[in-house]
Amino acid sequence: MTPVEYKIIQQFLSQSCGIVLSDTKQYLVKNRLTGLLTKFDLASFSELAATIKTNSSLSVRIKAAVVDAMTTNETFWFRDDTQFTELKENIFPEIFNRKRGTVKVWSAACSSGQEPYTISMCVEDASNKRGATPSVQIIGTDISESILQEAKAAVYSDLALSRGLDVQTKTRFFQKTHDGYKLSSSVASRVRFQQFNLLKPFSVLGRFDVIFCRNVLIYFSDEVKRDILSRMVDMLEPGGYLFLSSTESMPVTVKNIESIRGGRVRYFKKVS
Ligand SMILES: C[S@@+](CC[C@H](N)C(=O)[O-])C[C@H]1O[C@@H](n2cnc3c(N)ncnc32)[C@H](O)[C@@H]1O
Repeated sequence: MTPVEYKIIQQFLSQSCGIVLSDTKQYLVKNRLTGLLTKFDLASFSELAATIKTNSSLSVRIKAAVVDAMTTNETFWFRDDTQFTELKENIFPEIFNRKRGTVKVWSAACSSGQEPYTISMCVEDASNKRGATPSVQIIGTDISESILQEAKAAVYSDLALSRGLDVQTKTRFFQKTHDGYKLSSSVASRVRFQQFNLLKPFSVLGRFDVIFCRNVLIYFSDEVKRDILSRMVDMLEPGGYLFLSSTESMPVTVKNIESIRGGRVRYFKKVS
């Protein structure tokens, strides 16, 4: 891959999905995209780069495949578990007490579904404690169609389940099938999935009481990160909550949001 071909791919990724690759990541791009040459019958990276610059139907498919190959889908159940304890013990009870109508939650960049399904498990716990089942809709979005197919199937391998789930939760919410473990419909039916690019306007998604945006902004420039977070705060209902991962911070330029700290957990609340 020549420096010029690398630049074309670098620019395409930054403009189409916000992912910023430094000039030293050529080896990574080469590793991840080599398989696409065979898949799309391309002779070289030069042909791949040239096709990316066109608007043909092949180019559309290749661009989607490049994004799929270059995104990192790492996720697991109850990731940053103190956030989910806070969600089920304090945040959901507070929202259920004051909210009339359906509570809406957005898992932005949901990968293979573990994050929105974990949220749905927290709804089960908070509802059981309350003795009533409030109406909650969870939407999981991701840029990658192929990872969303896995999320929608809601069938996980032993290995995927072993990452973050204790035996009790596994037994409670999953049933063994011929191809893995199927998530119970009570948890799955609360979640719907939609392909969505975080660089696009959020208004099509509506407003939310809770947003999870974790482990995705780390791949973006500071400017894009600030823009996405400001727009997310706009989409929160007054008094709504926003979770970043425990290692991410809120840029100071993002307005109308306060930081909440409790024990080992930190999250953000929209100033109403
Ligand atoms: C590391 S996973 C994080 C999954 C989950 N939020 C978690 O914390 O476990 C990052 C996800 O962000 C998605 N992603 C990357 N760029 C995106 C964009 N511009 N719009 C929407 N999703 C994007 C990737 O496809 C990937 O599934």
